[in-house]
Amino acid sequence: MGKKVLIAPSILSADFAAMGEAVQKLETCGADLLHCDVMDGTFVSRITFGSQMVGAVKKHTSLPLDVHLMVVNPIDKVKDFAEAGADYITVHVEACGERLKETLEHIRSFGVKCGAVISPDTPFSAAEKAMELCDMFLVMSVYPGLGGQKFIERTLPKAEEARKFLDAHGLDARLEIDGGITEENARRVIDAGVDVLVAGNTVFKAADMAKTIAALRCGR
Ligand code: DX5
Ligand code: ZN
Repeated sequence: MGKKVLIAPSILSADFAAMGEAVQKLETCGADLLHCDVMDGTFVSRITFGSQMVGAVKKHTSLPLDVHLMVVNPIDKVKDFAEAGADYITVHVEACGERLKETLEHIRSFGVKCGAVISPDTPFSAAEKAMELCDMFLVMSVYPGLGGQKFIERTLPKAEEARKFLDAHGLDARLEIDGGITEENARRVIDAGVDVLVAGNTVFKAADMAKTIAALRCGR
């Protein structure tokens, strides 16, 4: 029996001026985790929010916070987000370079679950050496930096490659995909072996948020 498919709405698409209400609504509507897209304006050109927002969100929900660090030198930022209440912290392979394993171990040293992220142009092989350390592995299906982008089809084989690797090595990291997830492509993504679907735009523009989250989870 496969793992339960989880939906992690991205608060990137929420109204930042009413984040508390947005987060409570996501929980009421059945979200499994809250995906927090942290951008530093250097790793990606956009700046979104920091650990203070994560701490504020934590006060309004009991859902696990899945913090996606799109920042340079992520190892230096881990402590702030761990202390703010992150349950997962995922870091970009492209930003960690030789310090990927060290960064993942540093996240774990705070009792926080860790994960690696690869952008669309980064091969799965760049993360292979660190997979045994990961509690989560995130394949970006859009370029980091913006919500509401179109799903990049050529990233799906990387998710399948990651699933095969995890299964072949008996690793139980959750496989997550992020960017351009819709009710139209959710089934294909789930069939590729993805456990956690991040969705910002699709969830926040939905007429019925609960119905859309449920539809994403069962891929119809
Ligand atoms: C990109 C962000 C987005 C966000 C989800 O940097 O990581 O992918 O989480 O965005 P949507 O679901 O709106 O494509
Ligand atoms: Zn993200």
